[in-house]
Amino acid sequence: MFVTFEGIEGTGKTTQIGLLAEDLTRQGKRVAITREPGGSRIGRELRRILLSLETKDLCDRAELFLYLADRAQHVAEVVRPALADGMTVLCDRFTDSTVAYQGHGRGLSPDLLRQLNDTATGGLAPDLTIVLDIDPEIGLRRALSRNLETGAQVSEGRFEAESLAFHARVRQGYLALAAADPGRIRVVAADAAPREVFASVRAACQEAAARHG
Ligand code: TYD
Repeated sequence: MFVTFEGIEGTGKTTQIGLLAEDLTRQGKRVAITREPGGSRIGRELRRILLSLETKDLCDRAELFLYLADRAQHVAEVVRPALADGMTVLCDRFTDSTVAYQGHGRGLSPDLLRQLNDTATGGLAPDLTIVLDIDPEIGLRRALSRNLETGAQVSEGRFEAESLAFHARVRQGYLALAAADPGRIRVVAADAAPREVFASVRAACQEAAARHG
């Protein structure tokens, strides 16, 4: 099964992915954890360019194509082989990030993005997508303090430096995506304690697994 996690900055995706991986491993499943951007060797180089606050002159279309390049490489090198090997793949961000950030956030056409996403993935879609939903003010505050703790304000701070209005548009983008595809996408409120949030994540995953067979 292929499960992706989405949401604005600071929703606690990493924590939830860790909890789900633990839970699935306990059930005897083999789990691969990966992420975009940066799930492959080439992708890690793209991630450095994409997230650095020092990247100041990247135009919206160039940004889009770097995310798509990262995705194409990641799907070919990591995701498809792991799925073919029977693993459950948990991925931190995937195609919906592009529609939410480059589409709703930057203003590029969602239809174009859907087509380009399809080209990048060769048609691979997640079986389940969890959107962790939080007020952008709370999310940004969390993300900024995390970056301070890890010393990543400059190396990973380019999106955290975007306005609150930008993050509010991205959040609305995710909610619109979920409303349009309720079979695949589950919205989980992320402002509760991690264990509480995880109860909903786990329930969504079990339901999807039953559907997946
Ligand atoms: P990441 O470390 O995953 O974010 P978080 O702060 O939530 O842990 O950083 C990835 C950033 O890249 C994030 O700000 C969203 C952005 N992004 C896009 O704009 N488009 C995309 O297609 C992807 C995959 C990510």
